[in-house]
Amino acid sequence: MASPAVSSTPVTSLPPGPKISPIGSLTYRFSRDPLKFLRTVARTYGDLASCRMSGEVLFFVNHPQHIRDILVTNHRNFTKSRGLERTKLLLGNGLLTSEGAFHLRQRRLMQPAFHRERIAAYARTMVQHADELRRQWRDGATLDVSQEMTRVTLSIAGKTLFGVDVESQAREVGRALTEVMESFWLSMMPFASVIERLPVGPMRRARDARERLDAIIYGMIAERRANHPGNNVRGDLLSMLLVAQDEDDGSTMTDRQVRDEAMTIFLAGHETTANALTWTWYLVSQSPDVEARLHEEVDRVLQGRLPGVADIPSLAFVEGVVTESMRLYPPAWIIGRRAIAAHPIGEYLAPARTIFLMSPWAMHRDARFFSEPDRFLPARWTPEFKAALPKFAYFPFGGGPRQCIGESFAWMELVLVVATIAQQWKLRLVPDHAVVPQPVVTLRTKHGLRMTIHARNTK
Ligand code: HEM
Repeated sequence: MASPAVSSTPVTSLPPGPKISPIGSLTYRFSRDPLKFLRTVARTYGDLASCRMSGEVLFFVNHPQHIRDILVTNHRNFTKSRGLERTKLLLGNGLLTSEGAFHLRQRRLMQPAFHRERIAAYARTMVQHADELRRQWRDGATLDVSQEMTRVTLSIAGKTLFGVDVESQAREVGRALTEVMESFWLSMMPFASVIERLPVGPMRRARDARERLDAIIYGMIAERRANHPGNNVRGDLLSMLLVAQDEDDGSTMTDRQVRDEAMTIFLAGHETTANALTWTWYLVSQSPDVEARLHEEVDRVLQGRLPGVADIPSLAFVEGVVTESMRLYPPAWIIGRRAIAAHPIGEYLAPARTIFLMSPWAMHRDARFFSEPDRFLPARWTPEFKAALPKFAYFPFGGGPRQCIGESFAWMELVLVVATIAQQWKLRLVPDHAVVPQPVVTLRTKHGLRMTIHARNTK
C-alpha cells in the first residue's frame, strides 16, 4: 500500500490543488456537490491537496497516516471550534463543540455513562423499540424508511439516555431537526450568530426550530429536578449530568450546561445512527446475495427469538453489513480541524490557521485500501482484512481524544436494530425513487427513502 513521502526538511510551499477560476467557482463547486468535489480532489491530487478559499488555506488530507497525525499524534496543535461556530448555535458548549480543559472535564464527567456495562444494559431497550417499530409495519405498505429509522433511533436515544418516551414528540422533533439541518449551509457564513438573528425566512425557521427543541430538553431537565432532586437513582445520562460534580471545586452544571450536553448527545446519538440504518436498508435492497446471507445468519443465530447483547458476537455478517454501509455512506462524511501553529505534513509546511479537511467519504472509497471501492461487499470485512487495513483508512467515528464517545453505543444499536428488522421484513426500493446522498451535517438521503415492506415467511 502506498505511503506518503515524509521529508525531514519541510518547505513552506503548499501542495497543488484545485484552482479558483473564475472567482468563487471553487466555493460554488464545493457547496454544490461536496461529495463529488472531495473525491475528485483526492483522485487528482493524491494524499495532500491545498487551495485558498474565502481567505482561508484549506488542506484536503487523503492518507490514513496523515489523518492519524492530525487526529491523534499531534492533536494538540489543532482545534475544532472555529469551524463549529454554526453548530454551536444549536449545540451550545456541549461535548462536540467545546475545547481544551473544559472539554476534557466534560468528557471525564460523561464517560461513565458510556462504559461497556452501561451500554450493554441499553441492548434490551434498543431491541424493544425496534420490535415495536416492526410490529407497526403492515405487509405491502410503502414507507419512508429514513423517517422510520429516525423514529426508532430517536425513541432509543430518548429512553436510554433520558429515560423518557419521546415517541409522542418524535414528529415534532423530526420536523424541527429537518428545518435546523436544512439551514445548515446558510449558517456556514461568517458571523452566523449575528446573521441568525436577522428576520430572514430560513434563519428564522432555524431559530424557531431550535427553540422548540430547547423546550423539549428543558422540559426533561425540569422533570428530573422536580422528581429526583440530588440523586441519580435512574442512573441514566441526564440524571448523571444533573448530579455530576467537578472533582476539584465540587461545582455542578447549570441548566444551560446540562441542556447543551443533553442536546449534543440527543442529536449526535440518533441522527447519525438513523442515517447509517437508512443507507444500510438501501444497500441491502440492491444486493440479493447480501440480503440472503443476512437473513440466513439472523435466522440461524436467533432461531426466531429477539436478539440480545449475547448474540452480537455471533451476528458477524450483520456487523459486516453495517461496517460496509458506513464505509460507502459514512454519516459523518467530513471532519475538520484548524492548525493552531504552522504544521509540517508530508513534504509541506502548512501555515498556522490552515483548515484540514479529512473526509471518510473520500478515504473510504480509495482503491488503494478497498478493492472495487464502489461496490457493497460486506464479506470483505474478514478478521484478516481488518487486521491488515491501516488505521484511519476507515474512520467513521473519527479518532484520538475527540473520537465519538457513543461509538460502542452506535455499533450495538446498528447490529441489534438491523437484526430485529431483518428477522421479519424485506425492504424493496420503490421503482424510480431517486436515492441521492445529501451531505448536510450528516450524510442523508435527499428525498428520503421510499421502500415497500414485505413480510418474510420464516415459519
Ligand atoms: C453511526 C453513528 C455515529 C457516527 C457515524 C458518529 C460519528 C462521530 C464522529 C466522526 C465524531 C468525531 C467528530 C470530530 O472528530 O470532529 C463523533 C463525535 C461525537 N459523537 Fe458520534 N457518531 C455516531 C453515533 C453517536 C452516538 C450514538 C452518540 C451518543 C449516544 C454520539 C455522540 C458523540 C459525541 C458526544 C461526540 C463528541 C465527542 C468529543 O468531542 O469528545 N455519537 N461522532
